[in-house]
Amino acid sequence: MSQEKRIHHSGLQHKICSAEDAAKWIKHGDLVGVSGFTGSGYPKAVPGALADRIKQAHSEGEEFQIKVLTGASTGPQMDGVLAEVNGVSYRSSFNTDPKMRERINNGDTTYFDMHLGQVASFYRSGAIGDMDVAIIELSSIRADGTLIASSAVGNNQLWLNSAKKVILEVNSWQPAELEGMHDIWEVTTTYPQEIIPLRNPSDRIGVDYMTVDLDKVVAIVETNSHDRNTPFSPPDDNARMIAGHLMEFLKDEMKEGRIPQEFLPLQSGVGNVANAVMEALSKEDFENLMAYTEVIQDGMLTMLESGKMSVASATSFSLSPDKVQYFNNNIHKFRDKIILRPQEISNHPEIIRRLGCIAMNAAIEIDIFGNVNSTHIMGTRMMNGIGGSGDFARNSKLTIFMTPSLAKNGAISAIVPMVSRVDHASMDVHAVVTEHGLADLRGLSPKQRAELLIEKCAHPNFRPLLREYYNKGLDNGSMYTPHHLKEALSWHERFVDTGSMLPKSN
Ligand code: COA
Repeated sequence: MSQEKRIHHSGLQHKICSAEDAAKWIKHGDLVGVSGFTGSGYPKAVPGALADRIKQAHSEGEEFQIKVLTGASTGPQMDGVLAEVNGVSYRSSFNTDPKMRERINNGDTTYFDMHLGQVASFYRSGAIGDMDVAIIELSSIRADGTLIASSAVGNNQLWLNSAKKVILEVNSWQPAELEGMHDIWEVTTTYPQEIIPLRNPSDRIGVDYMTVDLDKVVAIVETNSHDRNTPFSPPDDNARMIAGHLMEFLKDEMKEGRIPQEFLPLQSGVGNVANAVMEALSKEDFENLMAYTEVIQDGMLTMLESGKMSVASATSFSLSPDKVQYFNNNIHKFRDKIILRPQEISNHPEIIRRLGCIAMNAAIEIDIFGNVNSTHIMGTRMMNGIGGSGDFARNSKLTIFMTPSLAKNGAISAIVPMVSRVDHASMDVHAVVTEHGLADLRGLSPKQRAELLIEKCAHPNFRPLLREYYNKGLDNGSMYTPHHLKEALSWHERFVDTGSMLPKSN
């Protein structure tokens, strides 16, 4: 479809301009609300043009940085280009771009990591000030001036409502047939808030378009540029074993009647392990699965097509290049099975609790008492952020964290005496799974959790060391949580000093 056909409102034609002209509307110090979630639906042209302006300003000794709020992660043409020129003084809510991660970790960019379901309410609280500009990617503008989101909904409607100036990028790479897949519903902003009338992942409660005060639209840029679609590596043995343990657990839960025959809506994090779990699910006898999640990845698309999954509700896609190509060419097969919602709805505690979701997310490390670190490397360096894992972990019926038992070629144990950062406290963690097994931690005391986690989940190379640590804790007296505080973080220190958590003698 030609680019002209994507902008159907005649009164907006004169606002079509180059990315360079659009970027001129953005000034030093502006708070900019940007579309995009997990590498989908983010603007691809204006940020690059803005980065050029920033670079120019810096070369002339002028200050030029902006504050950026998004849905979640974007891609190299947004976070990457702005990080390259040190153009962002403040960034929230989630980032996976390596260049931006570097700025965040070296202190050039202030990063506010937060639950993705709470970004909208955080903005509305007024704590960060008023939004100056919104840059929103769309798949089209209808004749009546309503807007069709692209591959992510995120916080778009809130940014469109709030920004003083709006720049729209209309991306003809995004399939026009996305129209009809979105379901935009805005929470009420006075308290007590209205009950969100969603009782099933397939419910549509809003409208399929977004709105904006057209007088605020200062520029429209046409693009034809793909999302950041990262290929998944084929599931390795560890991922397959993790998926296998998880399948056994879910089948047992069903046998015991704790998961109903019609199953419960699934939430799945992104990444290779999560994708392997989806692949494993597609081979099981479960029928009519549903997803109530934030991101639709390859495995879910496969299940939607085969009929194993009847519906997937999310706020965005995170597909590999092959799968996105397939999706774009065969979108008619998925139209009635996918619903893209604002992230405030896809990640809302009220709905997650009501639906009884099963949450499956990856962890960086987990301690023997069941606390989970999802965000920090060695307690100090930000990896990505908490994302939606906290929204789902706290509120789901069943919350499972998964990780390979080792990282960095065996130098790091993912099961540690004490996590170097707590993102999910043990009470939000029902089960932990590694390639060695699954520990069902429900109803257990810290001591019982430690014994199970060491035996079932830790790598054999680290089990004796973990037992030794735990016994030292017990020797300190009969404590509820038997830590040996002097050595609690010594494994991390040893890794920083020597490059391995294993003592030299091992
Ligand atoms: N200590 C130090 N580094 C570790 C580690 C540990 N215990 N465990 C993993 N790593 C490193 C890996 O070596 C890898 O490093 P590299 O990029 O240099 O190769 C990196 O962390 C990512 O690990 P990987 O095994 O590839 O995991 P992943 O892609 O499945 O990501 C998380 C795991 C936890 C980082 C990721 O799931 C995340 O960001 N989670 C938080 C957000 C979230 O859960 N969202 C869910 C809703 S979508």
